[in-house]
Amino acid sequence: MSPENRADVGVIGMAVMGSNLARNLARNGYSVALYNRTTSKTEAVVAEHGGEGDFRPAAELEDFVASLERPRRIISMVKAGRGTDAVIDSLIPLLEEGDIVVDGGNSQFEDTRRRERKLRELGLHFVGAGISGGEVGALEGPSIMPGGSRESYEALGPILEKISAHVDGEPCCTWIGTDGAGHYVKMVHNGIEYADIQAIGEAYELLKALGLTYGEMADIFATWNTGDLDSYLIEITSEVLRKVDARTGKPLVEVIVDAAGMKGTGTWTVQSGLTLGTPLNTIAESVFARAVSSHPSLRKAAQAALDGPDQKLHVEDRDAFIEQIRQALWSSKVVAYAQGLDEIRMASKEYGWDIDVSEVAKIWRAGCIIRAKLLERIRSEYAAGGLVSLLVAPSVAQDLADSQEAWRNVVAQAVAAGVPVPVFAAALAHYDLARAPRVNAALTQGLRDYFGAHTYLRTDIDGVWHTDWSGDGSEIPGEDMH
Ligand code: ATR
Repeated sequence: MSPENRADVGVIGMAVMGSNLARNLARNGYSVALYNRTTSKTEAVVAEHGGEGDFRPAAELEDFVASLERPRRIISMVKAGRGTDAVIDSLIPLLEEGDIVVDGGNSQFEDTRRRERKLRELGLHFVGAGISGGEVGALEGPSIMPGGSRESYEALGPILEKISAHVDGEPCCTWIGTDGAGHYVKMVHNGIEYADIQAIGEAYELLKALGLTYGEMADIFATWNTGDLDSYLIEITSEVLRKVDARTGKPLVEVIVDAAGMKGTGTWTVQSGLTLGTPLNTIAESVFARAVSSHPSLRKAAQAALDGPDQKLHVEDRDAFIEQIRQALWSSKVVAYAQGLDEIRMASKEYGWDIDVSEVAKIWRAGCIIRAKLLERIRSEYAAGGLVSLLVAPSVAQDLADSQEAWRNVVAQAVAAGVPVPVFAAALAHYDLARAPRVNAALTQGLRDYFGAHTYLRTDIDGVWHTDWSGDGSEIPGEDMH
C-alpha cells in the first residue's frame, strides 16, 4: 500500500462498542482500518454501514497494521482482561517505535499501568482510554478519558476530541494523566453512576411507598429533570417508569426481576477507596445494594424470618414530601459526586497523575452516562481553585444547608416505614461526620489504647500518650512504653 493511502486510525474489535466507535470515526471523515478476530463480524459492519465513510477492513492482523499511517493509532475495543492482553501480544511484533495502542475498554487501572510499562519499554505508547456513553455515545459522541504519555496525546488527541461529545464547542475529551489515569477516572465515573442510580432507585421506592402510580412517578421525574436534577439518568428514569409491558399491560419495571447486575467497576472504585483510605460510603452502599438484590437465598430467608413495618409512608402533605424527596436525592447525589472526585484527587497524588478535577467535570458534562447539569457547577467550583471538597464549595454548602431538613425528614420517614434508603442515609451520615466538631474517634482511640496499647494524642498537650489500663491507671508518654 502506498504511504499516502494509509488509514488514519484502526479499530480492533467489531462488537457493538468497537463498530460504533469505528463508524463515529468514519462519519467524522477519518479513514478507518477495521479488524476483528472473527472476520465475519468485520464483513458485517462493512456490509451494513460501509456507505457511512472510508472503511478499510482487514482479515489478517498483519494487513490491518500495514494499512495504517505512522505513528499507527490503533484502538482496541475487545473484551477487557484476557482479550486485551491477547490483542496487545499479537500486535507487539507487528508494531514500530512510536506507534500507539489505545485500550478503549473498561480495564482495571492497575492492568493499564502494567501494560503501559511493558509497551513503554518496547518503545511503544499505550493509552488506557475510558469511554463512556454506551452504544449510542460510541456512535454519536462519547465522553473520552485518555491516559498515557503526553506525546501520544499529541498524535491521538485531535482525533479523539473530534469524535467526542461537545458542549458549546468544547470537546468532552482531554488528556487525564499518565498510564492508568484515564481508566481510573472512568472507573470512578462508573462508581458515581452506581450511587446516582441507587439514589434514584431510593427516590422511586419512596414515591411508590406514597402510593403514586407509575405514570405519576414518570411525570415527577420528568419535572425534576427541568431543575437542578437535570441529567441523563433522571431523564431515562422517567421513560423507563412510563414504559408499559406489551405482554402483560403492567408497568415494565413491575415485571423486571429485581436483581441488579454489575460488571465490576463499582466494586473496583470501592476497593481503591479502601486502599487509599478515602470515604466512599455512598458508592459502597450502592454496590452492596446490588449485591443484596442478587442474593436470592438471603432475601428469601429474610423475607420469611424478619419482621418490619408495612413500608407505607404516612405523610400529611404528599406534595411537600415529594419535594423533600427531590431535595434528599439532590443532596445525596452531591455527596456521591464529592466522594468520587475526592477519590480521584487522592489517587492522583498517590500515583503522581496530577489530575485536574475541574477538567474531569468538564468532560463529563456530555456524552457520558452521568452527564448532568450539576457538572457545569462542579467544573466552575473546582476551576476557582483551592477547593478541599465539592461539599464545602460555598454555593453547594448553602444548597445542602437549605436541603438538610428535608433530607433528614425523608431518611427518618423512610427508616420508620421500613423503606431501605442506604445511599440517602450514607450520604447524610457522611455530611454529619464531616461537619461534626468532634467525632467518636476519641473513644475509638481510648479503646485501642486499652486493648492494644496503640497510644493516643491529647487535645491540650503535645506528645504521644498511653494509659496504664491494666496497672495503676496512670498516664505515661507513649515513647516510654517499651
Ligand atoms: P460481545 O460484546 O459480543 O459479548 P465479547 O465476547 O465481549 O463480545 O467480545 C467483544 C470483542 O472482543 C469481540 O470483537 C471479540 O472478538 P470475536 O468477535 O472474535 O469474539 C473480541 N475478543 C474477545 N476476546 C478476544 C481475544 N482473546 N482475542 C481477540 N479478540 C477478542
